[in-house]
Amino acid sequence: MSGWMRRRWWVAAIAGAVLATGLVAVTWPASAAATRYEAENATISQGVVEANHLNVGYQCAGIISEVGARVSNHQVGDRVVAIAPDGANAERVAASARTVWHVPKDMDLTLAACIPVAFATAHEALFALGELARGQNVLVHAGAGGVGLAAVQFAHAAGAFVLTTASSEEKLARLRDFGAGHGINYRTSSFVDEVTKVVGPDGVDLVIDPVGGSTLQHSVLCLKYRGKIVNIGLSGRDETLFNPVPLWGRNGALIGLGAPIALTHEYPRAYDVIARCIQRVRRGDLSVVIDRRFALADAAKAHAYIEERTAFGRVVLLPRG
Ligand SMILES: NC(=O)c1ccc[n+]([C@@H]2O[C@H](COP(=O)([O-])OP(=O)(O)OC[C@H]3O[C@@H](n4cnc5c(N)ncnc54)[C@H](OP(=O)(O)O)[C@@H]3O)[C@@H](O)[C@H]2O)c1
Repeated sequence: MSGWMRRRWWVAAIAGAVLATGLVAVTWPASAAATRYEAENATISQGVVEANHLNVGYQCAGIISEVGARVSNHQVGDRVVAIAPDGANAERVAASARTVWHVPKDMDLTLAACIPVAFATAHEALFALGELARGQNVLVHAGAGGVGLAAVQFAHAAGAFVLTTASSEEKLARLRDFGAGHGINYRTSSFVDEVTKVVGPDGVDLVIDPVGGSTLQHSVLCLKYRGKIVNIGLSGRDETLFNPVPLWGRNGALIGLGAPIALTHEYPRAYDVIARCIQRVRRGDLSVVIDRRFALADAAKAHAYIEERTAFGRVVLLPRG
C-alpha cells in the first residue's frame, strides 16, 4: 500500500479520540460527490471489469478541527481541501497532512472541494503524460464530466485545439464556452469520422479517455503517427478488451494514469500541481462548474442523479444540507 494511504492510521483517527500524528481532521466538509462506481481501482481480468475496494467520494473541503502531533504545516481553523482515500462523504474526515491544501479566504469551500482530483487528473493526463504542446490537437472524451471539463479548459488555455465528445447537444453547446473548438455527439455520429473530418486523416496528437472499452479502442483510429492516448477511467463499463494491434501502425502509445499515485511517487511536484490549480481557479483562469448540491443525507439521490447522465460538471454533497 502506498505511503499516503496508511489504512491503520485512517481507522485509528476516525474511530478513536486521538488523532494519529501525521493527520489532520477536517470538520463540516463539503464533499465532492463520487462520480462513477467502477472508478480508479477497477481492474480487468478475463474480460470482466471488477471494482476493487473503493470509497466513492474521496475529496472534501472544510475547516481543520484537530491536528496530529507531527503536523506543522496546518493548524486548527485553517480552511482546507483534502484528498482522503478512505472516504470523504462525512461530517468529519481524517486526512493525511500530505494531501491537504490551503483554500484562499475568498474561495468558496464547495468550489474548492471539486478541484484536486479532477484538475490534477486532467493536468497530469494532458501535460505530464500526454506532453500536449501549443498548436496540437487533442480529443477529450466525456468533456462534460468533472475531469473532462478541467481537461477542455487546460488544453484550450495551453493553445491546443480541443475536440470533445458528450452525449447531448446541450452539453456540447456549453462546452464551447469552456474552450472546446469542436463538439461531437457520440450518440448521433461516429467520433472517428468526425475527428477525421475536422483535423484530417493524420488524426490528433493526444486523446484523453475516461470511458474505456470500445471508446478506447476506436480512439486509436483517431491517432496521429506517434500520438498518445491517456486512459484515466472506465466510465462506459464496457467490457471490450483492448487490442493493441492498431497502435502498431502508428507507433502510438497507450498510457494509464492514476493521478493520486503521483502524490506517492512525485511528491512534492504533484502536490504543487494541485496548489497551482487552486490558485488558477481563484484567479478565474479556470472554472469549477457545480451542477447540483445535495444534502449528505440524500447521498443516494445524488448518485442516482449522476447515473442519469444529465449532469454538467460536479455534483456536491453538503453535510449540513
Ligand atoms: N485515473 C485517475 O486518476 C482518475 C481520477 C479521477 C477520475 N477518474 C475516472 O475518470 C472517469 C471520469 O471521472 P469524472 O470525475 O469526470 O466523472 P463524471 O463527472 O461522472 O463524468 C463522467 C462522464 O462520463 C461520460 N460517460 C461516457 N460514457 C458513459 C457511460 N456509459 N456511463 C456514464 N457516463 C458515461 C458522461 O458524459 P456523457 O453522458 O456526456 O457521455 C459523464 O459526463 C471516471 O471513470 C473516474 O473514475 C480517474
